[in-house]
Amino acid sequence: MRTSSMMKRMAAMSLAAAAGLTAGAAAAADAAPEAQRTIQVLSVKGGDAASPKAAVWKKAQTTQVALQTAFPGHASIVGTAVTQQLTAQAVRAGDRLFVKLAWNDVTANTAIKDTDQFVDGAAVQFPVNGEVSTLPFMGDAEHAVNVWHWRADGRTQNLIAKGFGTATPVPSEGLRSASVRTRDGWEVVISRPLQVKAEEGATLQGRSTMPIAFAAWDGENQERDGLKAVTMEWWQLRF
Ligand code: HEM
Repeated sequence: MRTSSMMKRMAAMSLAAAAGLTAGAAAAADAAPEAQRTIQVLSVKGGDAASPKAAVWKKAQTTQVALQTAFPGHASIVGTAVTQQLTAQAVRAGDRLFVKLAWNDVTANTAIKDTDQFVDGAAVQFPVNGEVSTLPFMGDAEHAVNVWHWRADGRTQNLIAKGFGTATPVPSEGLRSASVRTRDGWEVVISRPLQVKAEEGATLQGRSTMPIAFAAWDGENQERDGLKAVTMEWWQLRF
């Protein structure tokens, strides 16, 4: 590609990114006040919270989390995400963190049978350095984020990103997920050991709070990659 057109494209992308960041900052400004953006983690000695139907979820606090369409990361993938909110719960059982997400989605998109088909998905994101100074929009060049990504086709991936456009799968063998279809949508539990090797992502061991962000994709609405519903600001897990 000739330099001039590459430069034009880069300029367009950074303009979009800048506009997006401003939009992001503006959206974050009118989001839920900090104090309300807390998800209380229920700590239990042992037991298993892997299934969305596990009894322990009846005891864990439920928090409503409002979502907004992520600003376009790529000019070629734009649209309006349909998921307006999800509920989040968290349980610490032994040395594992379990995060349960539930949201409405009338269609179960679980397989990609054609080029214009996409699967439902959900994800949680943590700043690897544990700081809210890391950009919640998939991190930035200096500050990475760790994303746990559930897909309705049964794939669960651990990702590291340093800004959107850089998401890279990094194996984390302790990452697990389980999901059920409900009358209105999905219930998904994503879990992982609190402690992992540094290259695998964010460590949660020994923390009293940890910033967390959320994302949901509706495959029926052609949502994929950057076209999704997200939290534009960090929420806080409180252990
Ligand atoms: C406004 C904020 C955000 C923007 C603009 C954005 C943008 C993007 C873009 C452009 C991509 C595709 C390129 C790439 O792989 O990096 C992407 C992928 C991805 N993003 Fe984001 N993102 C945002 C927030 C989030 C949040 C909060 C999460 C998780 C909670 C997240 C999770 C993911 C995942 C899992 C992928 C890979 C999707 C796949 O492989 O199917 N993003 N994002």
